[in-house]
Parts: sequence; structure tokens; C-alpha cells
Amino acid sequence: SSDDAWSNVEKQIEKQRLDTGGLSRDSFPEGFVFGTAASAYQVEGMASKEGRGPSIWDVFVKVPGNIVNNATGEVSVDQYHRYKKSQAIRSSLVYGLSPCYVSLISASHESWDNSKDSKTICHSSCLQEDVDLMHKLNFDAYRFSISWSRIFPNGTGKVNRKGVAYYNRLIDSMLEKGITPYANLYHYDLPLALQEKYGGLLGDQVVKDFADYADFCFKTFGDRVKNWMTFNEPRVVAALGFDNGINPPNRCSKPFGNCTAGNSATEPYIAAHNLILSHAEAAKRYREKYQPKQKGRIGILLDFVWYEPLTRGKADNYAAQRARDFHVGWFLHPLVYGEYPRTMQEIVGERLPKFSKSDVKTVKNSFDFIGINQYTSYYMYDPDQPKPNVTGYQQDWNVGFAHERTGNPIGRRAYSPWLYEVPWGMYKAVTYIKERYGNPNVILAENGMDDPGNVTLPDALYDRERVNYYRSYLKELKRAMDDGANVTGYFAWSLLDNFEWLSGYSSRFGIVYVDFKTLKRYPKMSAHWFKQMLERKKH
Ligand code: NOJ
Repeated sequence: SSDDAWSNVEKQIEKQRLDTGGLSRDSFPEGFVFGTAASAYQVEGMASKEGRGPSIWDVFVKVPGNIVNNATGEVSVDQYHRYKKSQAIRSSLVYGLSPCYVSLISASHESWDNSKDSKTICHSSCLQEDVDLMHKLNFDAYRFSISWSRIFPNGTGKVNRKGVAYYNRLIDSMLEKGITPYANLYHYDLPLALQEKYGGLLGDQVVKDFADYADFCFKTFGDRVKNWMTFNEPRVVAALGFDNGINPPNRCSKPFGNCTAGNSATEPYIAAHNLILSHAEAAKRYREKYQPKQKGRIGILLDFVWYEPLTRGKADNYAAQRARDFHVGWFLHPLVYGEYPRTMQEIVGERLPKFSKSDVKTVKNSFDFIGINQYTSYYMYDPDQPKPNVTGYQQDWNVGFAHERTGNPIGRRAYSPWLYEVPWGMYKAVTYIKERYGNPNVILAENGMDDPGNVTLPDALYDRERVNYYRSYLKELKRAMDDGANVTGYFAWSLLDNFEWLSGYSSRFGIVYVDFKTLKRYPKMSAHWFKQMLERKKH
């Protein structure tokens, strides 16, 4: 059968001793955590099922033309059912039923048990076990996200017990396999109800609503989850949702593509401000109510493209610094210093919201660690033009991308047009955080590269370029750590090929290939590379 053929290919790859470039677990400090990362809408499936309410992404993906091939996350890679293989059989024992009967009753999705014990129940068609896969590949941790509207279908109020049961099952299976859960509370998927009620992130009310949702998660899962993250890539949320408007809720500061909302150029800054206040409020609740007993930690996830000045000239230097400030500084500066970066204050002026005295108290130091998503770098230059008179986040920042002008990319391009391979950018980004922000505890929360969706299975499995990518980036991360950066974990994006937002399934970031028709998982060479690199020495 074709499956046998593929398992033979895998055996071939498995047999090879892959070049780890001298890296092993021992290259990193004791207790350093290796994991993979993913998010709810990108991998779960069952988006409109099991009591989940819609998020702003569910509406957006349904508009023809928004996503490549009009793909959605309705099924995706079905992690909702496929994180654990043996569950149906185990639960049949718990309930004294024959496995056969369980497979009958669970043939429909409605058959999930709702009782308190439901965390031990799983759909019988759990074909493969993602958590088991993580374990087999020698990973220590999994960074997943909780879908707010799966817990609170309307954003607030009534709880969806089935959603709670699902995350309980997922967390418990991780712990059973020795995989440490890293839970992120928000990965782009705002409950639609809150968007409609008060404009979502533009409404002050979101601060309390998010903190209430976070509080519920700490209370419910915090006995087992010790690593919490509030928001993933708030810069992307604010800039792509409210400046160029390519992501939901599709608000733009000036007409861009299909976006004609034409909001005031203030909205990206208001959304970002509310994201910061929401993070801080949730962190405060965690620290006051839960941390003393649960003894976990809390942080936020920031995307950090490294910006390198094109020339040594002053203007280019300032342009690159401006870009870093408008990118990672937008969030990290308030969290560390209690205010926005000077560059932003000067350039954005009155449109930049201010932190009150009491805000500063909650915002400053409201983290135990910072997650950094680091994939790529760009050369930046000062466009040497008068400031454009149209304002907006991207215009305020006003720097040029060198590869667009010179045609010279900074590194080899992966499939996604924004992703250039620049290993030394990893060193610079991590070192910059150490130097400018007082060497906080950092986890490298995402790193990886993609292939086109239509790559053939054999090509996909022999992903030598991805192996090169991971090896060279990890070496640079190690170099930054050897030079003193306080990094405690590393997460590859992603375990599985999955729903890549606007690109749908046309971009594959997994170290494991997924056949989107059968949903079968096939570990790529890069998966075996991690497995070998992370081998535990027998003592
Ligand atoms: C950033 C995001 O956090 C994630 O959702 C996305 O899939 C990856 N990076 C790759 O683009």
C-alpha cells in the first residue's frame, strides 16, 4: 500500500545520522525546554462545533477571495480529535464498555461525554496521536492556544463545558506523556460577539472581559498549566487588523487592497494600548490570585523581525532603530519601562494613547518572561523623502525595505514572501533584547520556515533546507546564550503543517507533513533531525 511505501521512506530517513552541527541537548543549559508551537484556529478544526462560538476569523475566512483557495480552519488538521490515540479504548475501560461500543457511540461528534470525567473520553477515530508524536520526537513541551470563544462562545457569560473538557483532555494527555503545557490565551481569535458589541479591541471593555476569561482559565487549568502567555503577536493584531486591514477586523488607516474602512490613523494605537492593558490586567490577576499557590509564570509573545541598517550612515541607523521601536518596542518598552519608546512618542504625538499613573503600575514589570517569535530579518534604510502627509502606523514608521529597492534579498527566501533565512538575525534580535531591556527571561517562542502547499510528498519529507534553517538558527541562538542572553526555551513552528492564515493550506510550516485529505501525519527529515539532536543520553 502507499502507506507502506511512505513508512519505508521514513525508515530510510530515520536510519541516517543527520548532521546536528555539533548541537545536542548538552549544548544548552540544564532544564532548557524544547517544544513545538501551534494555535487553536490553525490546528483544532471543529471550529463551528462542540459549542464553540464564532471568532472574527470565522467570519472573515467565509468571504470568497479572502484566503488562498477559500480555505478555512473548519477541519484543519483535526487536533481536536487526534491528539490522543488510545483514548477511546481507555475510556471504554473506565466506563466498562467494550471498545467496539465506544467506537459506535463516538461515530458522531455529538457523542462526547459531558460529565466531569469527560476529559478521559476521546473520539474513536483518533487516528494518530499528536502528543505521542511530540514525545517520540523527544520534545519536552507544547505551546498551544486556548480558543476564547470555545470557552466563552459569546466572549463573556455562559461557559461552554465541552470546550473546557477538551482542553482538560489535551492538557492531561500532555502531562501523561511528560510534555509540559505552555498555554497561550489569545492567538488572533477574538470572539465575534465582542467585536459586534463594542468594537472588540477598540473598546475599553475588552480589558475586563479578557481578564475575566484569563482568570477563568487560570482557575480551571492552572493546577496543571504553569506557563501562561496572554497574547500572541499583538503588533500583528494591531498593524494588520487596524492599519493595512488585511487581517480581521479589517480596519485600515488609508484605503489598502480591499479595505476601504478608512478609519482614523489612531486606531492601531488604541488597539495596541488595549492589548497592553488587557495583558497587564490578566497578569495582575494571575499574580495576585493564583501565582502564590499555583507557582507558575506569565508572559506575552512578541514577533521580532530583526532590522539591520543598510549602511553605517546615521540616517539608516536611525531608520532601523525606529523600525525596532515601532515593532517590538511598542509593547516591550511599556512592559519594561512603563512608557512607549521615545521615537514613537515624538512621531505619533497626540495619536498615541497615554498610560495613567495607575496604568503604569499594572503595566510595568507585568511579566515573568517574554516570548519572542523570530523568523527573519530585513535591511532598512531611510527613504530620504519628506514625511508622507498621510498618517497611519506604517507611514509613521516610514522606513524602506532594502530588498525592495536594491533587489538584493538579505538571505535565501523561503516560500512565504516575508520570510528570508538570516540566522545571524537571531543572534542580533536576542542580544538586542538582552541589552536594551535588562536581560529578561526569554523563551524563543516561534522559529521555522515554510514550503509551498503543493510540494510532493517525497520532496516534503526530504526537507533538507528546513534542517539547515533550524541548525543554523539554533547555533546562533546558542551563541547569544553563551554571550549571556537569558533564554530558557525554544519552540519550533510548527509540529504539523496547518492553516497558515491568509495563505490557507498553500504554505507548510510543519516538521511533520500532513496529507490534508486523509489527515495522516508523516514526519519530515527535520522532525528526525530534532529527534536525534534531542536524544537523551542514557546514564
Ligand atoms: C506567526 C504566528 O504566530 C503564527 O500563527 C503563524 O502561523 C506563524 N508565525 C508563521 O507565519
